[in-house]
Amino acid sequence: MTGDRSTSDSILAVADRFDLETLAWALDRDIEPDCHFYEAILQRNAGLALEAGCGTGRLLVALLRADFQIEGCDISSDMLSFCQFHAEVTGFKPTLHLCAIENLPFVNRYSVILIACGTFMCITESDQVDRCLATLHANLVPGGQLVISLIPATYLHLVVGPFPTPWEPYYQMTLPKDSGTLIVDWRATDICSTQQIVSEECRYRWVAGESIIREEISAGQHRWYHRDQFLARLRRAGFCDIEVYSDYSDKPSDGFDAVLSFVATRTPEKV
Ligand SMILES: C[S@@+](CC[C@H](N)C(=O)[O-])C[C@H]1O[C@@H](n2cnc3c(N)ncnc32)[C@H](O)[C@@H]1O
Repeated sequence: MTGDRSTSDSILAVADRFDLETLAWALDRDIEPDCHFYEAILQRNAGLALEAGCGTGRLLVALLRADFQIEGCDISSDMLSFCQFHAEVTGFKPTLHLCAIENLPFVNRYSVILIACGTFMCITESDQVDRCLATLHANLVPGGQLVISLIPATYLHLVVGPFPTPWEPYYQMTLPKDSGTLIVDWRATDICSTQQIVSEECRYRWVAGESIIREEISAGQHRWYHRDQFLARLRRAGFCDIEVYSDYSDKPSDGFDAVLSFVATRTPEKV
């Protein structure tokens, strides 16, 4: 989160109202390499933007602060309620839609839709992925741009049975006011290689000294893609002029990327 120390302290004050996953996304993160990448795309596309899967507003609030006109949507009411709180303490009141990305109801509304942090990978069924891309296409204005960042499947060596796999350290965050550490671990619970779907769990533990204050496990799934597979799906949904960037830079992917960002254009209307 791009807030200051007092924002972090106010997060702690409301921590009991949110699950630990929401708290993890709400706290300050040191490295925010993606925000500048998305900013550059918004600068090239005037008009209303949407961050789909906006979570606690880490990016959304930073983009509002940079003077962009942007709305958010998320499937989690906890995340959105935190996002509202985060925006309000920062002085904004954005429009937020409690809505799955695949059900976005608008037509010709957004000049940019961005989906950060591999969130699109949470949509796992093949037909649903195609329907979702078609929906995103319809929600954009003609000539508008869809930006989707995906994590290449360089971690599959960790997803070999027996399942569940051992817990792997994912990341840790120091909580404000010496109130402990949030420790996040990850494990795979299954894999379907033909569908390219991993079932997984994240374990969130709030630890202070020797004590575990809270522990929560959240289960989910994600679908992984090879670059050309995702390009083909974007083309099938009607997108054109698709560029693929590496690691939030302006460089094309080189096959050794930690993150791939697809920037695809809804075909402009013929005059
Ligand atoms: C990894 S977090 C990223 C949050 C935010 N984009 C950021 O970068 O800080 C993913 C978010 O996507 C949301 N999400 C997952 N699947 C979704 C879906 N199908 N429709 C809308 N939101 C979804 C989750 O609730 C969560 O808030």
